[in-house]
Amino acid sequence: MDPQQRPDLSASQLPHPRPEVENLKAYSAPLEGRRGLLRLDFNENTVGPSPRVVEAIRAIPADHYAIYPEYDGLREAVLANLALPLEPSQIGLFNGVDAAIHAIFHAYGDRGETLLTTSPTFGYYTPCAQMQGMAIKAIPYRLPDFAFPLEELRTALLGEGVSGWRAPRILLICNPNNPTGTRLAPEPILELAAAAPGTLVVVDELYEAFTGDSVLPLADFAATPNLLVLRSLAKTAGLAGLRIGFAIGAAAVVDRIARVTGPYDINSFAVTAAHAALEDQPYTDAYVAEVLQARAWLVDQLQAAGVRHHAAGGNYLLVWPRQAPADVDAALRRAGILVRSMAGKPLIDGSLRVSLGTTAQMQQFWQAYARIEGLLPPV
Ligand SMILES: Cc1ncc(COP(=O)(O)O)c(C=O)c1O
Repeated sequence: MDPQQRPDLSASQLPHPRPEVENLKAYSAPLEGRRGLLRLDFNENTVGPSPRVVEAIRAIPADHYAIYPEYDGLREAVLANLALPLEPSQIGLFNGVDAAIHAIFHAYGDRGETLLTTSPTFGYYTPCAQMQGMAIKAIPYRLPDFAFPLEELRTALLGEGVSGWRAPRILLICNPNNPTGTRLAPEPILELAAAAPGTLVVVDELYEAFTGDSVLPLADFAATPNLLVLRSLAKTAGLAGLRIGFAIGAAAVVDRIARVTGPYDINSFAVTAAHAALEDQPYTDAYVAEVLQARAWLVDQLQAAGVRHHAAGGNYLLVWPRQAPADVDAALRRAGILVRSMAGKPLIDGSLRVSLGTTAQMQQFWQAYARIEGLLPPV
């Protein structure tokens, strides 16, 4: 049929998606047109991966592109890198931690059940819960310093003294939290997991390298099989564009999540890159050390200039501009620097999240920011 003559189908004539999907506001992030700019908007590694990753990818023979990916040895490589006495069956491989989060909700999130989490936190948890028809209970961080609301969370998790209470199906703790940087020690997380065996306690440790607060060294997945830890090579090792992430926990839980994941969701380039990145931990460690140094430098400037800011865990911090945040955001973009507006986010509306890179990159950011805000004379 001539496409011009196709009848204009109204929504009511289209196949019906699930109601949860029809009502869903998809997670969308402003990801276009970022190349060539100083990208301080997605907490990515700002210098790229180890040269060994680049070499390994270049060495993939073209005929291998035609073969489905092979995952043999990758789980073992993750374990060797983590130096943990776990079994390969305790490592789930995903097309980025985003895909792991999606699969966790697919496997464990049920209509009418509750996701318990904190607010504000990483934005992708919400649509994943909503697409399953789950309710969301988000406990706010405590002002003024965005401290972790441990007591409130414990009450919501365990329902002590709350009538009509039902255990949440999933508890998601982002540690350190994106975007507040809030840190939580591993011990209280393990206590929560032990006290709530019916709840899947997911600890998103994407930015753990910047704090060292991981639950993994202390976790006993035989005693607390409801605990699951997420790790990624996106932010520290610089593989965000290749998409590779891990879920670590009890083999039975990892297996359930794998059941709702496609058989070849991780491509061959990501597998090769992951092997090379895991083998070059010194490169990642050096990058993390550089970022922590750069954070100290930038925090010094912010303090000296009296800029309201909040810096805790993670490779990012929050600043509150004196001028309208949207104007400062736009002026930074004109200066070739991208940051992430936190407009509309509970507790941190009016702030900008600035990802941390090298000291030279933070100097570039600070020169531009301070001029825009009138803290330094214009050039
Ligand atoms: C807290 C948190 N979890 C998960 C992700 C997604 O990570 P990945 O790139 O491995 O999918 C991000 C990315 O920004 C994040 O900030």
